[in-house]
Amino acid sequence: MSNKGRSDGDRVPLKARKVSFSWEDTPLHWVPGDPFTTHTINVLHLLLPAGERWFVHVYRQVLPYIRDERLREDVIGFIGQEAVHSQAHDEVLPHLKEQGLDPTPYTAQVDWLFEKLLGDRTLPPGRARRWWLKERVALIAAIEHYTAFLGDWVLNADELDRRGADPTMLDLLRWHGAEEVEHRSVAFELFMHLDGSYRRRVRTWATAFAALVFLWQRGVRFFMANDPTLTGGKASLRAFYVRGRRGTLPATGALLRSVPRYLSRGYHPSQEGSTEQAVAYLASSPAALAALAAERRAS
Ligand SMILES: [Fe+2]
Ligand SMILES: [Fe+2]
Repeated sequence: MSNKGRSDGDRVPLKARKVSFSWEDTPLHWVPGDPFTTHTINVLHLLLPAGERWFVHVYRQVLPYIRDERLREDVIGFIGQEAVHSQAHDEVLPHLKEQGLDPTPYTAQVDWLFEKLLGDRTLPPGRARRWWLKERVALIAAIEHYTAFLGDWVLNADELDRRGADPTMLDLLRWHGAEEVEHRSVAFELFMHLDGSYRRRVRTWATAFAALVFLWQRGVRFFMANDPTLTGGKASLRAFYVRGRRGTLPATGALLRSVPRYLSRGYHPSQEGSTEQAVAYLASSPAALAALAAERRAS
């Protein structure tokens, strides 16, 4: 694959699939007998609703600056997909609450982070505001390196099936993961189109990586401490490492190896994951198929 850009063979038109899930049959520990794996993955439901809403908010402001028609189409497709992702993860939260895990104390902080700290008014109007928009576009590109990494991981995480993980949750994760793989080049190409500064890429990667590690470990601890079925539930780096070796969470080594790839000058997201695998999953995902059937009935 080219280092400089996506080949046309790898490019798929991006469309939002309007999926919906019903959670009433999903148990609290949807990876049976493994609350740590369950809650580590559950952190996605805490971060993504506000995080992906923020992507959409930033990208809507960037649209007038895009001078490439194909990229603009991709960004519009990306916005549509992220809006549905955000909504789909948000809909898991009332279900967690019904099971005794009220996420509000945590999500209130995440909302503040994305809406205020990373909002439009953090820097004063004028040049600083434009600098801030470019900085956020670069932050999104760095985060999307990880959403693509996780998407590729979950599409291949057969150990979750072997351990009897809840099929509805797996479909949510794999439908989302597949769309992340499908649109993995958009955020990086937009960053390169608008700016592409290598120093900015490194700086925003460091910020995004540190923030993700910080938010994730806090989120897992929050769930483990508040899970009504656990007494003295704890989270540890060792527990994460062990699950990575077992295959129910990403391997620590694979995560670390993904860092120099993003920072390499020849990086392009098309080198990560497989569009073919993503498209194949989307063609068989129960939620994506139901969305397609509903769309056909409506037209
Ligand atoms: Fe997403
Ligand atoms: Fe994404």
